[in-house]
Amino acid sequence: MKLSPDPITLQKQKAALKAVEHVEDGFIVGLGSGSTAAFAVEAIGERIRIEGIHVMGIPSSYQAFELAVQHGIPVTTLEEHPVIDVTIDGADQLTPELTLIKGGGAALAREKIVASASKVNIIIADAAKKAPYLGCNNQFVPVEVIPFALSPVKRRLAEMGGKVTAREAKGKLGPIITDNSNAIIDVVFGEIKNPAELAVKIKMIPGVAETGLFVGLTDIAYLGTAEGVEKFTAKRA
Ligand code: 5RP
Repeated sequence: MKLSPDPITLQKQKAALKAVEHVEDGFIVGLGSGSTAAFAVEAIGERIRIEGIHVMGIPSSYQAFELAVQHGIPVTTLEEHPVIDVTIDGADQLTPELTLIKGGGAALAREKIVASASKVNIIIADAAKKAPYLGCNNQFVPVEVIPFALSPVKRRLAEMGGKVTAREAKGKLGPIITDNSNAIIDVVFGEIKNPAELAVKIKMIPGVAETGLFVGLTDIAYLGTAEGVEKFTAKRA
């Protein structure tokens, strides 16, 4: 991998390279989505090419699928491999306890399915993603919603105290459509005191497919910093 002169991109690359050390010959690997996870996919492809390791990837999005093909990673499915050895994915915000907000790239539902099917789940990010609590700096929580339920779900989320915005598509008029043909509502709650409780409350609203709150799903996080890579660990729920 050609290391970037841009300091933030370099932090993402350093975190990705560290995480990819966990990939072993014969592994089934969950492939995350987003710009940081893309570096992990590239690095896995390099290990296949250079070291000759045999791994198969389970992509968490169409983006991850395309990158896997581009970097020579054979892809498989959860039907064929329902248990994943290790998943490497990014995050929009994470706390030192490894609770996360994900879904900035609208891939949250498949990312959560892949994470929960994984024996080891590793998050990689640049240092700016670390926060003392979720919702810090008005970070929004993405919520994936069946389009038929968009208006009632928006109302319910607003009643829960959230500032709601239906995410617009880019290069297409109207709402963004996920890989599961759903819509995304981005919700700002301010400080999220109990992410697990909030995740359950949101998930209980009819029409909600998934929330971007990831609680008790992460084992390790590698954060690229100006000096190197910081490691965090947590116990899975
Ligand atoms: C996509 C995600 C991404 O992992 C998250 O948005 C981080 O992306 P990036 O590494 O580009 O900052 O959850 O749904």
